[in-house]
Amino acid sequence: MHWTSLAALGLAAPTSALLRFGCSQIVIERLDPLVNPGQNPSPHLHQIIGGLTIDVQNAFNVTMDPTKDISKEATCTSCQFSEDFSNYWTAVLFFQAKNGSVHRVPIIPNVGFEGASGGMTVYYMQDGLANYAQTSKVTAFKPGFRMLIGEASYRSKNQAARFRQITYTCLQTPGTRYPESVNFPTSPCPAGIMANVRFPTCWDGKNLDSPDHMSHMSYPETGTFESGGPCPDSHPVRVPQLMYETVWNTSRFNNKADWPETGQPFVWAMGDHTGFGSHGDYVFGWKDDALQRAMDSTCYVNCPTLKTQGISDMNKCTVPVTVDENVDGWLPSLPGSPSEM
Ligand SMILES: *[C@@H]1O[C@H](CO)[C@@H](O)[C@H](O)[C@H]1NC(C)=O
Ligand SMILES: *[C@@H]1O[C@H](CO)[C@@H](O)[C@H](O)[C@H]1NC(C)=O
Ligand SMILES: *[C@@H]1O[C@H](CO)[C@@H](O)[C@H](O)[C@H]1NC(C)=O
Repeated sequence: MHWTSLAALGLAAPTSALLRFGCSQIVIERLDPLVNPGQNPSPHLHQIIGGLTIDVQNAFNVTMDPTKDISKEATCTSCQFSEDFSNYWTAVLFFQAKNGSVHRVPIIPNVGFEGASGGMTVYYMQDGLANYAQTSKVTAFKPGFRMLIGEASYRSKNQAARFRQITYTCLQTPGTRYPESVNFPTSPCPAGIMANVRFPTCWDGKNLDSPDHMSHMSYPETGTFESGGPCPDSHPVRVPQLMYETVWNTSRFNNKADWPETGQPFVWAMGDHTGFGSHGDYVFGWKDDALQRAMDSTCYVNCPTLKTQGISDMNKCTVPVTVDENVDGWLPSLPGSPSEM
């Protein structure tokens, strides 16, 4: 394919692209068009951000037709870059009280995105976060591309070791970034818990998806994305590193006297008390060549080549809840009552 020959010629783009932007929440409900297409409700609760259409042909719906380019179907997006109609989602975090009742933990915007309604911070990077040069050539995802990282059923560190970079940051202040842990933080985090999901960066160059939504992607063969490790021959195409940050406002649940004796009180919607089951889903939906154009330009956090919209427009792009169940206030059990392992 063309890009291999380009890479063989050593044509590195003289650019520095790292996008960091906010997307408000479009809905919190039990839907998962990637892992559980057509299933309404899906087994556990998700928070979803990105593009949608208001009319019948919703880009984000119980199912998402992989043959359709969602950027052509969607009529609005909750993301700051208004050419990005991709969908991004993660599980939802709950607090479990001593009496067993659960309460959804609210999501707050990251530093710099105040005013956004919940949602996440999304990154697309050529190189690791700490490398300001961002010099590696990356190939943008294609229409119809989707992927998943993380495994909702994992409950041990050994299992989670399969995924290199799904972590938590215990926020002492909103600006805390280190250290990261693979398990849930075990002490109260004054400014919240940030859940970080980083996707693999090597694509097989052929498949827009795969049965497990993961095997068309790979981590670098040696080293890491951050250290510039090369992609394996099986997955030779270097794509941008996609990363999500979600900030869960744990403030009202930080009183240790309210914590159960069994340990830290937070639990993912799929019944995971360990944190090892964290996962993120992605359905690509940038308009035309907007993402490639951005990755080939000098863009750092902001990007003059991309169109943007204000926070009030981001917040307006919401979808009515289709699953009829209460997910707020004190609940006797997690929505969908997944088994708690
Ligand atoms: C989802 O798709 C179905 C059929 O394609 C449609 O009837 C329904 O209105 C859509 N849901 C939403 C929330 O738009
Ligand atoms: C369980 O505990 C929480 C927190 O103390 C409390 O608000 C809630 O009302 C309790 N639920 C029941 C059913 O007692
Ligand atoms: C976090 O939650 C606390 C307690 O409910 C609230 O007072 C605070 O305003 C929230 N923080 C943000 C940034 O919304």
